[in-house]
Amino acid sequence: MRAMMESALTARDRVGVQDFVLLENYTSEAAFIENLRKRFKENLIYTYIGSVLVSVNPYKDLEIYNKNHMERYRGVNFYEVSPHIYAVGDNSYRSMRTERKDQCILISGESGAGKTEASKKILQYYAVTCPASEQVQTVKDRLLQSNPVLEAFGNAKTLRNDNSSRFGKYMDIQFDFKGAPVGGHIINYLLEKSRVVHQNHGERNFHIFYQLIEGGEEDLLRRLGLERNPQQYQYLVKGNCPKVSSINDRSDWKTVRKALTVIGFNEDDVEELLNIIASVLHLGNVQYGEEDGSACITSDTQIKYLARLLGVNGTVLTEALTHKKIIAKGEELMSPLNLEQASSARDALSKAVYGRTFTWLVNKINTSLTYTDDSSKHYSVIGLLDIYGFEVFQHNSFEQFCINYCNEKLQQLFIELTLKSEQEEYEAEGITWEPVQYFNNKIICDLVEEKFKGIISILDEECLRPGDASDLTFLEKLADTVGGHPHFVTHKLADAKTRKVMGREEFRLLHYAGEVNYNVNGVCVCVCVCVFNLIVMCMSENKILNQCFDREELSDKKRPETAAAQFKASLAKLMEILMSKEPSYVRCMKPNDSKQAGRFDEVLIRHQVKYLGLMENLRVRRAGFAYRRRYEVFLQRYKSLCPDTWPNWQGKLSDGVATLVKHLGYKPEEYKLGRSKIFIRFPKTLFGTEEALETRKHSLATKLQAGWRGYSQKSKYQKLRTSAIAVQAWWRGILARRRARRRRQAADTIRRFIKGFIHRHEDRCPENEYFLDYVRYSFLMKLHRNLPKNVLDKSWPTPPAALTEASEHLRQLCMQNMVWSYCKKISPEWKHQMEQKMIASELFKDKKDNYPQSVPKLFVSTRLNGEDINPKVVQALGSEKMKYAVPVTKYDRKGYKARPRQLLLTSSGAVIVEEAKLKQRIDYGALKGISVSSLSDGLFVLHVLSEDNKQKGDVVLQSDHVIETLTKIAIYITALCVIDFTPGSELLVAKAKNGHLSVTAPRLNSR
Ligand SMILES: Nc1ncnc2c1ncn2[C@@H]1O[C@H](COP(=O)(O)OP(=O)(O)OP(=O)(O)O)[C@@H](O)[C@H]1O
Ligand SMILES: [Mg+2]
Repeated sequence: MRAMMESALTARDRVGVQDFVLLENYTSEAAFIENLRKRFKENLIYTYIGSVLVSVNPYKDLEIYNKNHMERYRGVNFYEVSPHIYAVGDNSYRSMRTERKDQCILISGESGAGKTEASKKILQYYAVTCPASEQVQTVKDRLLQSNPVLEAFGNAKTLRNDNSSRFGKYMDIQFDFKGAPVGGHIINYLLEKSRVVHQNHGERNFHIFYQLIEGGEEDLLRRLGLERNPQQYQYLVKGNCPKVSSINDRSDWKTVRKALTVIGFNEDDVEELLNIIASVLHLGNVQYGEEDGSACITSDTQIKYLARLLGVNGTVLTEALTHKKIIAKGEELMSPLNLEQASSARDALSKAVYGRTFTWLVNKINTSLTYTDDSSKHYSVIGLLDIYGFEVFQHNSFEQFCINYCNEKLQQLFIELTLKSEQEEYEAEGITWEPVQYFNNKIICDLVEEKFKGIISILDEECLRPGDASDLTFLEKLADTVGGHPHFVTHKLADAKTRKVMGREEFRLLHYAGEVNYNVNGVCVCVCVCVFNLIVMCMSENKILNQCFDREELSDKKRPETAAAQFKASLAKLMEILMSKEPSYVRCMKPNDSKQAGRFDEVLIRHQVKYLGLMENLRVRRAGFAYRRRYEVFLQRYKSLCPDTWPNWQGKLSDGVATLVKHLGYKPEEYKLGRSKIFIRFPKTLFGTEEALETRKHSLATKLQAGWRGYSQKSKYQKLRTSAIAVQAWWRGILARRRARRRRQAADTIRRFIKGFIHRHEDRCPENEYFLDYVRYSFLMKLHRNLPKNVLDKSWPTPPAALTEASEHLRQLCMQNMVWSYCKKISPEWKHQMEQKMIASELFKDKKDNYPQSVPKLFVSTRLNGEDINPKVVQALGSEKMKYAVPVTKYDRKGYKARPRQLLLTSSGAVIVEEAKLKQRIDYGALKGISVSSLSDGLFVLHVLSEDNKQKGDVVLQSDHVIETLTKIAIYITALCVIDFTPGSELLVAKAKNGHLSVTAPRLNSR
C-alpha cells in the first residue's frame, strides 16, 4: 500500500523538476515560472533552489501534512524525498543535533503567501517527531497552543489575508541534548496598533474582539457590559466587515480559551485580560461633545464600565480623556483638549493599552515556555521567523512602512547570506568564479535606517525637536534630505504621471518588492500624544495594566524614543540573532490576489520571483557549490572515514582534506579546495559522506563499546580473580592448618600408641593408659562388630589380658542372652523334640557310632499308627495306652532267627507284638537293663529280671530307629525310675543297688 502510494507520489513528483538547479534552461525566467506553474497545477507547491524551499500558497487543504508524511521526512536526507516544508524542518533539526549549531528558519514572502502556516507546520512537525517525555509533552503543548492565542490577539483579516499577522514573531524552540523540545522563547515585533482604532474598508480589527463578542458566554458579556453585536462598537465598524466566511469566531473563541488554560493562565488572568479587551471596545464608544471649543464626554455609561473594568477612578479617567497636562513655568497645568485632540488622545490610549497588553501576553507565554530544568542549561535552538509580509494598500500608514522596512531588512539578510557573501567567499577562497549580477537592496535599507540621513533618523529628529513639529514639516525635511535618492519620491519631486497617484501627504518608496506610497498623517503626533494621559493607567487596579504601565517610565524626563527608532533597534537585534545561527530559507509566494485555490496568476508570480531574487539565487546555486566547510571542521567531522586521517592528521589541513576526499572517491567536478575551505558542489556528495559517517559512527561506537566492555569486563574479572585468590589463600591456609593440626594429633596419637605398646605390660600409668584404653576400646568395638550369631557359634575375639575376665563375663552373658532368646522362640513341639534329643544325647553321644547320624533326624511320636496295629492288640492292651510303636526284628536267643515284630511302648512297659498276638510284655520295673553295641548297628537287648516266670528272658531286638526307640524307652522308664550314667570300660546297663538304672558306657572319642 505504502509502496503504491509512494510510486504514485513519485510519478506525480516527476512533474517539472523538484529542484530548480536541475532546470535545463536555468537562466530563463519563463522556464522557472513554467516549472512552478506545472507543479502548482499538480498541487506540488514545494520546489527547491538548492536548499532554499520555494512554497506557493495552494489556498486549499492538501493532504500532505499528516503523520505519515511526517514519518516519511523524519531522519531522511533532503534529496531522497520530494520537497516539503518538513524536509526543511528535519534538515535544520538534524544539523542542530549533529553539528551542535543553533539553527534558524527564515520564512519570508508577502502578506498571505503562507508564512504563518509554514511556521505552524514546522512547529507541528517538531511536536510530533521529536522525542518526548511527560514534561516535554507539556512544553510541546504550550508551544503549539501559543499560536492560537497570539493569532487571536495579533492577527486580523486584511484585504490580502484573512489571517494576516499584524506583528512580527521570532520564536526560539529550545532542544535538550537528547533532541527533545524543552522550552521556547518568543520575541514580538511592532504590533500594528493603529488597527485597534481604525481599519481600512474590508478589513477587521484583531480577531479577539470578534471572538469575544461571538463566542463569549452570556454571563461573561453581561459582566463586561458587551452586546453580541460587533456593529455596536466604533472600533469594529470602520472596515464594515464584521463577518468573514473563512473565519468561525465562535469556535476560534473556544480554541483560544482552551489554549489559554494549556499555557497556564488562571481564571483571574483571563478575567483581567478580557476586562482590558472589553475596555478597548468601550473606549472606542466614548462619545465627545463640544463645550466652548473644548471636548467633553456626552455619555457616562462607557466611563462607568471603563472605571469598573480597568479599576480606575471614573472622574480621573474622564479628565484624562478630555485634558492634557502641560508644564508651564515649572507648574503642571491641565489644559482642555478640543474635539479632534480628545478623540486622538482616546485612540492613543486604546492603542497603548492594547499594544502593551499584547506585549504582556507574549511575556506571559514566555514565562510558561521557560526551560525550567536548571541541571542542564545547555540547549540548542531552532529559531522560527514569521514576520508580517510585504504589503501594499491604497493607504499605507506609518506601520506599513515599518512592516515593509522589516521585509526589506530580511531580504538584505538573505542577500547577505546567500548571494553576496557566497560570491565574496568564492573570491576570497580563490575559487574561479563568474560573478552573478543581482539587485542588492542595501541601498533601500540605508535610505530608511542610515544614521542622521535615513528616514527614521529624520522622523526622530522632527518629532522630538522643540517647536511645532507636524507631518508636513517632516515630509519637507524628508524631501530636503533624501530627495535625490533613486528610491525615494514625494509628491513635489514626482513626475506628472506619478503625481496623479500620489497624495500630497505621501512619500513613495521604491521597495525591492514594489512601490509603496506612505501617508505621513499622524506620524509625528502619535509620539507626542501617547505620553499624556497614560499615567492614569498606572493607577489601574487591573493587574495586567499595572504591570504594563510603569509610572517611572512615563514620567521619565529623558528624550523618549520614537516607535520607529525602537523598531529599528529591535530589527537590528533580530538581525544579530539570525546572523548568529545557521539559516534555512523558506520563500513563500502567493499565486493570486483573490485567495483562490488553483489560480496561478503569472504576472503576480513573476513579480514575486523577481523581487525575491529567486533567479539570481538559482544562478548562484547552479554556478556555485551547495556546501562549504572550513578545512578543520570538515576534517574533524569526517576524518574517521579515511585510515590516513584517523585518528589524527598531522600535516597541513588542506592536505588532510585532499587525502580524505581522495579516499572518499570525490570526483574532481564534485568539489574544489579553496584557501581555507572545501567547496562541495552537490548536496548528494555531502549526503553520501554523511551517510558513510553515520555507518562509520556505528562501527566506531561498536568498537568503543567493545573496547569499553572488554575493559570493564577485564577489570571486573581482575577484581573477581584477586578476590578469588584471596579467598582461596585464606581457605588453603585454613585447610593446611587443619591438616597440620590433624597430622600433629595423629603423630601424638601414634607416639602415645607406641609408648603405650612399649609399656603395655606395666601397670596402668600415663605412658600406657592411652594404649590400654585403646586396646580395650578396640576389643570392645571388635566384639561389638563380631558377636556370635547363634548359640552354636563359638567364635569370640581374643581379649587383651586386662579384659580376660570381663570377656568371659561378656561371653557368658552373650551366650545366656542367645540361649534365652533361643528358648523364647522354641515351640512346645520343638521343646519336646529337644528334650528327647537331650536324653538321646546323654545316652548315646560319643557312645554309639550311629548316634551322630540320628541327630539331624527328628524323633516322631510313633512309627506305627493305629491302623498298622492289630485291633486285637489294642484290645489286649485294654486301658493301657500305647505311646510309641515301632517295627522291630526279634532274634531268637537260640538260633538267632530273625522274626519281624512290633514293639509297642506304654507308660508302664514294652510289648512285643506279632500280628495280633502279644508275644511278650516287659514291664519297665522288670527291665533289668538294655544293651546296645557301640557300633552303628540297630541291635539292642532288653534284659529282663529272670526271676519273673512270666518273662521269657532277655530279648534281642533290632530297630532301624534304635536311638529313637531306646530314647523313648528311657523316657518312659525315667518317668518311673532314675538312670545313672557312668563311663566305664564297656557298655553295661544294669539295675544298681540303689534301685536306679545304671548305665555304664565306654568313651569312644576322647573329647
Ligand atoms: N500550506 C498551505 N496549505 C493550505 N493553505 C495555506 C497554506 N499556506 C497558506 N494557506 C492559506 O493562506 C492563508 C494565508 O496564509 P498565512 O496566514 O500563512 O500568510 P502569511 O504569509 O503569514 O501572511 P501575513 O504576512 O499576512 O501574515 C492561510 O490562512 C491559509 O488559508
Ligand atoms: Mg502571517
